[in-house]
Amino acid sequence: MQLNSSRASLAHFFTALLIVISLVALSMQPAQAQNAQQKYKIGIIGTGKIGGALARHWVKAGHEVLISSRHSEQLQDLANELGPRAKAGTPREAAAFGEVILVSVPYAAMPQIGKDYAAELAGKVVLDTGNPFEGRDGPMAVEALKKGTGIASQEFLAGTRLVRAFNCIPAASLANDANRAPRRIAIPLAGDDAQALEVAQQLVQDAGFSPVVVGPLAAAVRFELGKELASKQYTAMEMEAILSRPETAPAR
Ligand SMILES: NC(=O)c1ccc[n+]([C@@H]2O[C@H](COP(=O)([O-])OP(=O)(O)OC[C@H]3O[C@@H](n4cnc5c(N)ncnc54)[C@H](OP(=O)(O)O)[C@@H]3O)[C@@H](O)[C@H]2O)c1
Repeated sequence: MQLNSSRASLAHFFTALLIVISLVALSMQPAQAQNAQQKYKIGIIGTGKIGGALARHWVKAGHEVLISSRHSEQLQDLANELGPRAKAGTPREAAAFGEVILVSVPYAAMPQIGKDYAAELAGKVVLDTGNPFEGRDGPMAVEALKKGTGIASQEFLAGTRLVRAFNCIPAASLANDANRAPRRIAIPLAGDDAQALEVAQQLVQDAGFSPVVVGPLAAAVRFELGKELASKQYTAMEMEAILSRPETAPAR
């Protein structure tokens, strides 16, 4: 009789233990899923305020970067500081290295970059942060704004799977406000290629921000500087609310 009751308690104990183990395993699932996310080789063309901040965030998230400028020796200290997942090189080396490319240069450099590295960039996912300014970039900036920056950038970087990203967050915020809690900052995205948008969304998250897909490249006009979506730092929910207003609903 006593033997039966201790067997029953043992069975209860093991059942409880199994439940606890299953619950712990379940609670660990999101972290495991996150760790299982793809890690990319990212070539960064233009490692200034924006490119430099993103290089830091992405290395921290486990990606490999090749940071570049036309004076790559000046980037060696940053590469050393970022550690074994970072190296410095030329823009062409960055274009060849990356499965994903970040182009973050003064807009006037876009035609030359698209032309000189066309072979290395062909078919790749490219994130473009550039903003055309007439004062800095000359008349080509006026033309680009007339077309819409998404359309203009795709013409300059023909043959790439382009996504407009990180163009309307100030560099200081990008560097210092990653993973802001509780109001993560939203980054609007526009692109014509669904898979490229998936990659861009992951890289926005890995940088510590919330991606919001606004629409195809033509819809990038919605978050050019001076437009409502670029006027302040919204959360993803706030940005979605603006996008869903009938008077502002984009061509999604
Ligand atoms: N700063 C902001 O708050 C901010 C925010 C959002 C978007 N943006 C836009 O994002 C882009 C980058 O801004 P940023 O502030 O990071 O600029 P930045 O600090 O001046 O850096 C630009 C980088 O581009 C490189 N570069 C220039 N011409 C190049 C070329 N022909 N080929 C390869 N690399 C070239 C420069 O390096 P080398 O001269 O050594 O080659 C430099 O490191 C701009 O279009 C800007 O309008 C800026």
